[in-house]
Amino acid sequence: MAKTRTVFACTACGAQVPKWVGRCGGCGEWNSLVEEIATKSKGLSQVVGADTPMPMTEISIDEWTAVPTGSPEIDRVLGGGLVPGSVTLIGGVPGVGKSTLLLQLTAARCRGGSRSLYVSAEESKQQVRLRAERLGLLHEELWMVSSTSLPEILMHLDTVKPELLIVDSIQTIFDPELSSAPGSVGQVRHCAHRLVVEAKARGLATVLVGHVTKEGNLAGPRVLEHVVDTVLEFEGDRTQELRLLRAIKHRFGSTNEIGLFEMNDSGLQGVADPSALFLADRAAGAPGSAVVATSDGHRPLLVEVQALVAESNLPSPRRSAQGIDSGRLAVVLAVLERHGERSFAKRDTYTLAVGGAKVVEPGADLGIAFAVESALRNVAVADDLVVCGEVGLAGEVRRVAHLDRRLAEAARHGFKRALVPPGYPTNSVDGMRVRCVSTLNDALISPGVFT
Ligand code: TYD
Ligand code: MG
Repeated sequence: MAKTRTVFACTACGAQVPKWVGRCGGCGEWNSLVEEIATKSKGLSQVVGADTPMPMTEISIDEWTAVPTGSPEIDRVLGGGLVPGSVTLIGGVPGVGKSTLLLQLTAARCRGGSRSLYVSAEESKQQVRLRAERLGLLHEELWMVSSTSLPEILMHLDTVKPELLIVDSIQTIFDPELSSAPGSVGQVRHCAHRLVVEAKARGLATVLVGHVTKEGNLAGPRVLEHVVDTVLEFEGDRTQELRLLRAIKHRFGSTNEIGLFEMNDSGLQGVADPSALFLADRAAGAPGSAVVATSDGHRPLLVEVQALVAESNLPSPRRSAQGIDSGRLAVVLAVLERHGERSFAKRDTYTLAVGGAKVVEPGADLGIAFAVESALRNVAVADDLVVCGEVGLAGEVRRVAHLDRRLAEAARHGFKRALVPPGYPTNSVDGMRVRCVSTLNDALISPGVFT
């Protein structure tokens, strides 16, 4: 019998201590320590072959090129596709569509001629088959197994020999050699490590599904994020159709691209033109609405920001921001009060980004200000006007990144006029009158911006 000893491991950072304490000394998290059986993870050193140093120029990179997944939106986020031997962790709240996304991805790869193994540890094979059938994703190279045991999965890899492995989800996989319960920090960390080692040794592209906690973090030790090559986050509200795929960490490319999907009866569909989606229901001529040219990573997006300002009977009036950063809203309202002589002391202010969009970048400030001003004065912002700029505490309008792309997107959607931060060449976009404004007040009194 191997001698075991108990330790307490932090569920947030994975740090281990011999005695329980209320607060983890590693990361400062409260109440995060759980009891674990300390077991040495065996055999890692035997699996990883010893490496030999060589000149960097002689290192072969042929097998490290991304293979397209067959979904343009996923490929955009991954910078071309999945790299053989890479491990990707995808996180998201329950019901956001992780299993659906991965099933679609796997089927697309199979149609491209590679064999894939989908390990479903949460749903039965029959359940997944039914879904695949309904979505038209059945393929003979798509292999499926319902298993939660790590040694079993490793065995299946030998028999199936897939080029792509999906594990849904990593929190439900366990190694019976460890005595701690499935889902515990030790198990999750051990199984993930082991799958990473296998992926590298076999040149197997692996995707692990990770659960997220109530706070929105990937559950299990943060150390998971360090062992994998790519961490993706699948965001979205299960009540809304729009889903956003974003890379938080990516060893093979930038983390600046986002992928957009719409969930409907036939699964997840890539959204090629998100601006059109966000602007689809815009009511022309309605007060309290402004269109902002925002940018999420490298991707320009046109988003409608709405505001409603109403008399308040509350001692401290309400300020609501949905899909908008409440800190940015507070700054804009403060600047409007201080430098624009408006008062929000007895007014409730509601703002939102339409269509489930999330605009948290400062470039949306000017749009928030226009929506609020428009609601306050009960006049509509001109239909063909798009605005973009950060608002500073002194009331100045500050520069934003990727203005070219934002304005090109606006021009493509038929906007004829733009208000932008100072220093931008005003004749730069075809068919659009671009006006630079240096303060928020200048912007709000520009001719023809309100109708
Ligand atoms: P799922 O992929 O199971 O989510 P996760 O694995 O992240 O928990 O997707 C679950 C939700 O997606 C489910 O509530 C229903 C919805 N859905 C659709 O709207 N259309 C579809 O075609 C599918 C497969 C799911
Ligand atoms: Mg699932």
